[in-house]
Amino acid sequence: MIRLAPSILAADFANLGAEIAAAARGGADQIHVDVMDGHFVPNITIGVPVVKSLRKITSLPLDVHLMIVDPDRYIDAFIDAGADMVSVHVEVLPHLHRTITQIKKLGAKAGVVLNPSTPVSSIEEIATDVDFVLVMSVNPGFGGQVFIPGSLKKIRSVRTLLDRAGNRAPIEVDGGIDLTTVSSVVDAGAEWLVAGHAIFGSGNAEHAARALKDKAAAALK
Ligand code: DX5
Ligand code: ZN
Repeated sequence: MIRLAPSILAADFANLGAEIAAAARGGADQIHVDVMDGHFVPNITIGVPVVKSLRKITSLPLDVHLMIVDPDRYIDAFIDAGADMVSVHVEVLPHLHRTITQIKKLGAKAGVVLNPSTPVSSIEEIATDVDFVLVMSVNPGFGGQVFIPGSLKKIRSVRTLLDRAGNRAPIEVDGGIDLTTVSSVVDAGAEWLVAGHAIFGSGNAEHAARALKDKAAAALK
């Protein structure tokens, strides 16, 4: 099932309530929240207090993408603040199974994220345990980057891996998703679609969200 996840990284931070409401009217299914620490990625964005505030202004699930070096330290706080999904990068986690188990124990959906250079095989042993897999289709750190075409093959490989493990967990794709790339990622097997600039950089988040979701739904048929 297609779910659209607008990334607020591209939104007007002084006007988040209105931005999210517009995306919701356009059919957003969950709100993607990019947490960056200036270490794992070069950029710094937002943290727990913002998630707590968002929880009060939207009933949409909050999809928190942790691009930080030590996610284990902050998982409790983000889930306490209202995160419904928490995704963590395999590149920083030597005890990935423990981290995923902890996220699920705290009542959130657990996702694992693969950078463009990280092999699909790195999640082979936990393929039965994940609630979703996030395939980065750009190098994390910034919005508005160009989609990396090799991500399509990777989405297909992750789908094969999950299917072999008997896990129907959805694949989320993040980076450079717009009207020109959305059909190909859906065709490759992605179901949760993150989009920042394509929605909040468009001048009309409601219309942009609806157009993207309609195009994705058409590609699914
Ligand atoms: C990048 C973030 C993305 C970003 C996507 O590091 O993880 O979620 O906001 O932005 P667009 O859709 O503009 O590529
Ligand atoms: Zn993200």
